[in-house]
Formats: sequence, C-alpha cells, structure tokens
Amino acid sequence: MTVGGAVPATEDRLDVERLRADFPILSRQVNGRPLAYLDSAATSQKPTAVLDAIVEYYRTSNANVHRSVHRLAAEATDAFERSRERVAAFVDCDPRGLVFVRNTTEALNLVASSYARQLLEPGDRVLLTLMEHHSNLVPWQLAAERAGLRLAFLGVTEEGLLDLSRLDELLAPPTRLLAVTHQSNVLGTINDLAALVREAHRRGVLVCADGAQAVPHMPVSLRELGVDLYAFSGHKMGGPMGVGALWARPELLERMPPFLGGGEMIARVELESSTWAEIPHKFEAGTPDVASAVGLAAACDYLDAVGRERIHAHERGLVRHLLDVLDEAGATVYGPRDVAVHGGAVSFNVGDVHPHDAGTVLDRMGIAVRAGHHCCQPLMRHLGVPATTRASVYLYTTHEEIDRLGEAVTEVRRIFRV
Ligand SMILES: Cc1ncc(COP(=O)(O)O)c(C=O)c1O
Repeated sequence: MTVGGAVPATEDRLDVERLRADFPILSRQVNGRPLAYLDSAATSQKPTAVLDAIVEYYRTSNANVHRSVHRLAAEATDAFERSRERVAAFVDCDPRGLVFVRNTTEALNLVASSYARQLLEPGDRVLLTLMEHHSNLVPWQLAAERAGLRLAFLGVTEEGLLDLSRLDELLAPPTRLLAVTHQSNVLGTINDLAALVREAHRRGVLVCADGAQAVPHMPVSLRELGVDLYAFSGHKMGGPMGVGALWARPELLERMPPFLGGGEMIARVELESSTWAEIPHKFEAGTPDVASAVGLAAACDYLDAVGRERIHAHERGLVRHLLDVLDEAGATVYGPRDVAVHGGAVSFNVGDVHPHDAGTVLDRMGIAVRAGHHCCQPLMRHLGVPATTRASVYLYTTHEEIDRLGEAVTEVRRIFRV
C-alpha cells in the first residue's frame, strides 16, 4: 500500500532512487553539481506528501482551533487532534501525554522549567551526560540556578559510548532525574535507553530522553522503552519546522505546572488567579501551528509506508560505507565503529583543516555537510577539538553520495596539503 505518495520497498531494501523522486529539493544542482545532501541531522528534507498536506490544510480547513463553533474551526480542531493521535501512534504512547511544542528545545525547556519547579527540591540532583546537545544541558543549568539543583554528568568512553562505570554511584540519592540523549548528534552513538531506564527506575530515578536524532531514524516505542518524558522535533523526520512533541506520562503532566500562560491552556480565569485546562492542553498556550502538526502527521504516514526498520537498515549500510570511505580518505573519525550502535551521523576531521574550510570545499563540490561544534561544546572539549565536520544520512541518501564525500575529502587533503 502506498500512503501519501511514499514508495514502499518491495523487499527488505529501499528503492532509494524511486523514493528520491518524492523529495523535489534533491533534484537541485548546487555549484554546478547534483546536490548531495548530507546534513539531515540538522534538518531533513521534506517529501511532497508533507508539503501537500500543509498546503491542503491551508487551502481547505484553516481556522483557529478549540475556539469557535463554526464548521472550519471544527475541521481545524479535528485535524489538529487527529495529528496528535497519529504522532502518538508513531512513537507508541498515550496521546493524552503528547504536547505539541515548537521543537525539542522547547520541549526540554518545558520539562526543565515546569518539572523542576514542582517535582524537584533544592539539593536534588539531575544526572546528564557529556554527549548532550545544548538543548538538554542549558535548560538544566537554568533550572539548577533557579531551583537550587545539582548537576552531575556521565562521561564518554574512548569508543564514543556512554561511560557507565559510575552509573550506580551517580544514580544514588540525591539524583532524582536522568536526562539523556537517545542518540548523539555528534558521535552518532545510539544509547541503550531501555537499559538506562531500567537502571534508573530501580533506584526510583525518572528518565527524560532527548529523541531528536532517534525518532526520525528507527522504530521507537515509548511504551516499550518505559521512559517517563521524551522530546523530539518534526523537522528532522520529514515534517515541517515549527512543530515537535514532548511526551510525558499523563500522571506527571497532571502534576507539572503550566510552562506558558495565555489562551487555550485555561479552564477558568479570575482577575487574580486561574485554573488550567486538561492535559495536554494545559501546556499548549496560544494559537498552535496547526498546519505543521498536520504536516508532521503526514510525515509519520510517509515514514511508516516506507518502513522504519528498512530505513534503519539502509542507514546502517550507509554508515558502514561512510566509516570505510572516511578511513580510506585519511580522515579522523569520532564515535563508535560498531554500526549496531551507530546512528546516521558521523563526525570527522581532516588533519588540522578547520571544519569550516573543509565544509566550504565540500560545498563547492555540491556536498552539504555541517561544520562546527554542533551545539555540543563540552563534548568538543572532551574530544580535544574546536569543531568537527559532520556527514549525516537519511532514507534518501545514496552510496554514490558517500563515494562523492570520500573523493571530496581527498580533495580537501590535496588543497590544504595534509
Ligand atoms: C540530539 C539533539 N537534541 C536536540 C536538538 C535540538 O533540536 P531543535 O533545534 O529542533 O530544537 C538537536 C538538533 O540538532 C539534536 O540533534
């Protein structure tokens, strides 16, 4: 069956060439070369099915949600709530706990602000890791300052895995919450979230996970993971920018105070005080980005039609190829070598060439990669580099594009004589 224009794979392998036709932007030329888009960890490209769903919503049903009784308002509200159910089904969770937010960053700020205010006390400890994106670090620094919390950190091993040697000790009191990434955006490391949740729960510690790099790339069941709070962004999974989700156990959301105040999130307002709407609406103040929620639901349909196991398997093959090609081209690669625990983002450096210079040469050859600290400055310091170049893949990436990257890295070495 084809859903939303997605091309299903016939057997276990993706028909990538056919599938690429669903992504109009991939036929672009950049600097006289066919675009090789190797920056999907920053944001993914969007299939026509998603673009069409957004336009169709604006063309036929646009109105504000939860506010009016007229027909369009009812249709818009219905589209928004159906999108919530679709996105919840995609990550296998109770839709009552799914809050639409702008992105992972907003979701994690919501948690750090609201959860810390109500459910943590001065002196409590939040356990983080050295591989967190700034969006799962800075909000906790702000919360620590406001609420008198302590922060502690799991390290990273030589192989780019979480260093669990002190896990026992660091999960002990006063630790109350573990906030950890499901997949590193720099090293590509896929953390064993289910095992971390089991360990944390054994000690009465709850777990908040950053799923920004996981949900787009592999099947994720929040029910099976047993996680307590989980954040992800629509724009990294074929959906539009401007929408993401926080999922939290409904009983936690019930106890957490609102993050933002205003329309939509209230039950009754007096001059001096208010009461709150039911969850998840209590956390959705103001007019939401309905069209983006509809687009995100279409992205879920698209990815499911292609098959998330197949996408994951395709990416494993690409990462193996990437590691080989980068080794052959003489690049220094960071992160695990075992593709079973390596998601679709690979960081590397070429001698002492600054990643911005390497990225510029690659761009001239039509190859889009990310160069910088990837919002992980503490991890960069741990690696002993100011920045890395990162190539990241998705369902539409081809092995030929990886070969082109290898040739381009060789060209970088030739130009900079390293
Ligand atoms: C692991 C990780 N967490 C959080 C984020 C932040 O996502 P957003 O910018 O969509 O809020 C990113 C984005 O690159 C990421 O890779």
